[in-house]
Amino acid sequence: MSQNNLVYPVIWQNNSVSLIDQTRLPAEYSYVEIHRSQDMAQAIKTMIVRGAPAIGIAAAYGIYLGARESETSNRDEFIQHLEQVAQMLRETRPTAVNLFWAISRMLKATYETIGTVEEIKQTLLETAHAIHNEDLQTCHKIGDRGLSVLPETPEKLTLLTHCNAGGLATAGYGTALGVVRSAWREGRLSRLFADETRPRLQGAKLTTWECVQEGIPVTLITDSMAAHCMKQNLIHAVVVGADRIAANGDAANKIGTYSLAIVAKAHNVPFFVAAPLSTVDFSITDGRQIPIEERNSAEIYQVGETILTPEGVDYYNPAFDVTPAELITAIITEEGVLTPADLTKYQNKQMV
Ligand code: MRU
Repeated sequence: MSQNNLVYPVIWQNNSVSLIDQTRLPAEYSYVEIHRSQDMAQAIKTMIVRGAPAIGIAAAYGIYLGARESETSNRDEFIQHLEQVAQMLRETRPTAVNLFWAISRMLKATYETIGTVEEIKQTLLETAHAIHNEDLQTCHKIGDRGLSVLPETPEKLTLLTHCNAGGLATAGYGTALGVVRSAWREGRLSRLFADETRPRLQGAKLTTWECVQEGIPVTLITDSMAAHCMKQNLIHAVVVGADRIAANGDAANKIGTYSLAIVAKAHNVPFFVAAPLSTVDFSITDGRQIPIEERNSAEIYQVGETILTPEGVDYYNPAFDVTPAELITAIITEEGVLTPADLTKYQNKQMV
């Protein structure tokens, strides 16, 4: 953690990548050092690093680590090896498009570098750094852009978020939590409500932890309490992140986001999605085409060492759901606050 209490989940130092081990927070704040592409793939799969933009950054460094593992000076052999590393990284988590976006950008840099294998490796490290640095700047822009769209209220705002779309899920600062941070800095926020986010509890474990580091007042609720809180007028607006947004604005995010959007609509509470343009997948027209990750059923039948269910039960554990565009008040991006219908205008601004 830095002196200003901001959280940086991916750090390039001593020629390797240090990742905050997010599976151990909040009980333990520790780093895992990653030297090999295979270990990076494993860290993404096991959610040591998680959150769409952070996964993309980690994968970019994973590609560089893979490049470094190759000993050949033959360009074709090198590229063949790199394509295998790319495929291994692509197979880690299917929903967050930033993973695929970052890998494509790294491969594009590879193909476009005319030079020796050593020169390509250097370009790859620089490209990974660029992806990393740009995301931090993007998050600050998203946070600040969000201020223009938050409701004007006589009292300070109370916002609700789901999962963790904070510094831990990005290069730092966060997307949805970036908006929360900017509102706090500007004196406009009274409190954040955080959904616990079953089953992995990113809200309970990670979002509250980030808030506590920075002194942002935070109230934890279980996911099923959101409707009740809205009915009691406790929530002025919902701000969530996204893992993949289709060209029509349908947005995939952590399981439970869709029901939150329905509940927000029913109570006339604005529902904002905060995400970089790299989260928009312009190759798909709507949310039905977004692949939804299914995770290990132990995530829902087990808490710690305790098995919750009797034998003979079947399980279904989708990790994400898709919120239809019509339930989204606006999408807060680094380029400004957009309606879902505005998105396609930005297709050419997306850097790959
Ligand atoms: O399964 P996770 O923890 O990787 O899911 C994370 C989310 O759903 C986040 O809301 C999303 O990635 C946006 S992060 C800025």
